[in-house]
Amino acid sequence: MAQNVYDWLDERLGLQAIYDAILDREVPKVNWWFTLGSASLFLGLMQGITGILLSVYYVPTPDHAYDSITYIMTGVKFGWLILGIHHWGASLLILTAFIHMLRVFFYGAYKYPREVTWITGVMLLIGALGMGFTGYLLPWNQRSYWATTVGTEIAGSVPGIGNIILRILRGGTDLSALTLSRFFSLHIWIFPAILLAVVLTHLYLVIRLGISNIPDEDS
Ligand code: HEM
Repeated sequence: MAQNVYDWLDERLGLQAIYDAILDREVPKVNWWFTLGSASLFLGLMQGITGILLSVYYVPTPDHAYDSITYIMTGVKFGWLILGIHHWGASLLILTAFIHMLRVFFYGAYKYPREVTWITGVMLLIGALGMGFTGYLLPWNQRSYWATTVGTEIAGSVPGIGNIILRILRGGTDLSALTLSRFFSLHIWIFPAILLAVVLTHLYLVIRLGISNIPDEDS
């Protein structure tokens, strides 16, 4: 029965061809360092899932943000676990993506024909840092408030256009409800939408070009 349903769908959607292209590929002899891209991907998916769950209870206003986080920690079943995974997962993702980048660099895997894969990787790392920066403000506690005050001030110290950047980020001269809703929107809509598109491009290129070999003495 299941086989019949699968065959029916496969004939119309080409499922087997998609499976073969994505998962049934020739891979050169590699080592554990090559697992870090997939580890980053897994952590990114976890951030997405836990983030969606958190958005059910989180309220992005100065009056309610802190209380809604306290409620998630103490009143929601497994809320502490979801928030904990989201909090620690963010740091772990940056760490795995960074070590993945070092692996790519030291094995020379950024060279022809993988330059665009490298560029999309840089965009992913910057985007992940942007997610960390915007997410840090959301609990709206003393630490997040002052960290964002300092962070936006650093962005504001860019020569010439610093003041404009600072005002755009804060939605005015000071941190306010506008800053919180701006950061929230960046954190749950703008960055994720861009990151999704870039991650799909990154993976498309990994599939299209195949994984590089571990360089030997000749290379
Ligand atoms: C969220 C961040 C990232 C994700 C999810 C991700 C995902 C992946 C995956 C699954 C692979 C397949 C091979 C492997 O796992 O080593 C890969 C390869 C690659 N990644 Fe990333 N990556 C990320 C960040 C980066 C960064 C920061 C760079 C560099 C600046 C980068 C550059 C590359 C390159 C050049 C390859 C091809 C390597 C080869 O063929 O040996 N990636 N990436």
